[in-house]
Amino acid sequence: MKLIHFTDTHLVGHGQKLYGLDPLARLTACIADINRHHADAELCVITGDLTHWGECAAYRNLRDCLAELTVPLRLVIGNHDDRTELRLMFPDTAVDEYGFIQSGMDTEIGRLLFLDTIEEETHAGRYCLRRLEWLSDALNTAADQPVYLFMHHPPFPVGLPSLDALGIPPDQAHALNDLLEAHGDVRHIFFGHVHRPISGQWRGISFSTLRGTNHQISLDFQAIDDVPGSHEPPAYTVVLVDADRIVVHYHDFLDASPQFSLGSTDWDSWNQERDTRPIIA
Ligand SMILES: [Fe+2]
Repeated sequence: MKLIHFTDTHLVGHGQKLYGLDPLARLTACIADINRHHADAELCVITGDLTHWGECAAYRNLRDCLAELTVPLRLVIGNHDDRTELRLMFPDTAVDEYGFIQSGMDTEIGRLLFLDTIEEETHAGRYCLRRLEWLSDALNTAADQPVYLFMHHPPFPVGLPSLDALGIPPDQAHALNDLLEAHGDVRHIFFGHVHRPISGQWRGISFSTLRGTNHQISLDFQAIDDVPGSHEPPAYTVVLVDADRIVVHYHDFLDASPQFSLGSTDWDSWNQERDTRPIIA
């Protein structure tokens, strides 16, 4: 199964920029690249912070832009989002019995679970008892199927103090982990929030995340009180999953560097080659 994962699109109102960049133009470029190169993907997931301020105009931009995507799509909510506005603009969004934007999807590789980790009035993550109850049911009914999680906040510290202060509290993360351990076959966690390319393993479960499609967060292991931003390039990942592997390919879709054959002996021509595609500010 081929999946596309991207995150933290942070859309704003039409014509507006965010941190000196145009989120809509970048998302448009991201979608065009996916449509061009990965129209065969079976699912695309955006892991939250779909908008920056959660207003109606931004969700309208998001909806209109995503209408161009040819791959089936699932949305996850992030701390910059608003549940009410999101559901108004995307009325087909699945929710659990309490109104949290959580859902499951059974596929050829197993059950995909999309979690809601936000709490109003804070940018930090939360995973309360009611959501744990839903997750417990979703894992129990997954029976012997492998499970893959998609969520905005990571359930563990990533080692960057400014971001770890905005994570899921340890007690809630422990409770989440207890459920995952009880299931016994949770294969991977895909998350957003950190705006950085990070992969590894948490308590035996592999994970991956990536840069957002607009602005990024710097690799700064000292900053605590302020979240350091950057204009590192945006990316999406192409994820290949089958019974015995999960492979995550990172793709900087605005990269304009020359491409060439490593077997070429025509050095003069490719030494002079220049890609003139404009950089989206
Ligand atoms: Fe974000």
